[in-house]
Amino acid sequence: MVRILVLTAQDLLELLDPKSLVDAIAQAFKKYSKGETVTPPRTVFYVEGNWWGIMQSYVPGEGVGVKVVNIIPSNRERGLPTIQALVSLYDPVTGSPQAIMEGGVLTALRTAAASALSVKLLAPKEKGAVAVIGTGYQARFQLRFIKEYYRPSQVRIYDIRREAMEEYKRFVEEELGLEVYMAKDHRDCIKGARIVVEASTTKDPVIYGDVLEPPVHIVSIGAHTPTARALDDEAIEKVDLIVVDSRKAVMEEAGDIRIPVQKGLIKMEDLVELGELVEKGLDERPAITLFKSVGLAIQDACAAGLAYKKALEKGLGKWISI
Ligand SMILES: NC(=O)c1ccc[n+]([C@@H]2O[C@H](COP(=O)([O-])OP(=O)(O)OC[C@H]3O[C@@H](n4cnc5c(N)ncnc54)[C@H](O)[C@@H]3O)[C@@H](O)[C@H]2O)c1
Repeated sequence: MVRILVLTAQDLLELLDPKSLVDAIAQAFKKYSKGETVTPPRTVFYVEGNWWGIMQSYVPGEGVGVKVVNIIPSNRERGLPTIQALVSLYDPVTGSPQAIMEGGVLTALRTAAASALSVKLLAPKEKGAVAVIGTGYQARFQLRFIKEYYRPSQVRIYDIRREAMEEYKRFVEEELGLEVYMAKDHRDCIKGARIVVEASTTKDPVIYGDVLEPPVHIVSIGAHTPTARALDDEAIEKVDLIVVDSRKAVMEEAGDIRIPVQKGLIKMEDLVELGELVEKGLDERPAITLFKSVGLAIQDACAAGLAYKKALEKGLGKWISI
């Protein structure tokens, strides 16, 4: 019989604090960019018209993680999450299953950790506002993690759904204790912000170059299909440094990178991977920086491995035998 540790969403929230997850994720990205992880391309398929993915990776020191994830936009009407996932973790030497865990919270935590790592490395020194475009599920985790590295003077928010903005305003004020400004539109939201976070399900640009004022660091986690874009041409052209989670993945999946490369607005050779930035650092921060992510399986394996280790230390979770 094999014993497996089961970790719930609540367990993961207790185990994966921003600082330790960001540090672990930094090492995972470094190993990825140095070719030290095993990360076959994710399998993408469509079921009943909805996106499903299977993402697998071996991150030395953390373990082998496999995630089954789906994105079902109509779930909002059913009172279910848009993104649902299950992650399993295996011992790399024996192959034995070690743990299974809730993957929706794990995904939000590991995505926020990558964004926060980019903020740690690229945030302007100047104090100022953080703008959040798209105030759904991911946006809560993004801000909770980012504020550990850049304390905003104000949080400017915008969503096409008024109720999402109102709920997010309550969350930011009551749970994070930060001042909120509800913007009139996308441009009003971005105006003067030092950090811009895009966490929306948009297909068309929501970050416009004409209102970007340096110094600013942009984080874009949405628009991760080949034809979707979160930044318009002017915005992408204004960016001095584009950091991506994976050069290969963004060239395949992110319209924000693929389309401007095809149009000759940016060059693929100029893209820097987050892991390379962790390894080499920067002499001087450029005026406008962007972190564009599509999400990598190394993040899931890393977060799952860290959660498992911490759960063993703290005695959290429930053991089952199969
Ligand atoms: N890069 C990664 O690693 C990663 C990981 C997880 C999720 N994501 C992506 O992050 C995005 C957000 O996911 P979520 O779980 O928070 O979804 P969600 O449905 O909970 O929230 C998305 C929000 O975006 C808003 N929105 C849609 N179009 C908009 C527009 N044009 N302007 C402003 N707001 C708009 C919606 O009203 C909604 O409130 C999705 O695209 C998702 O696929 C990326």
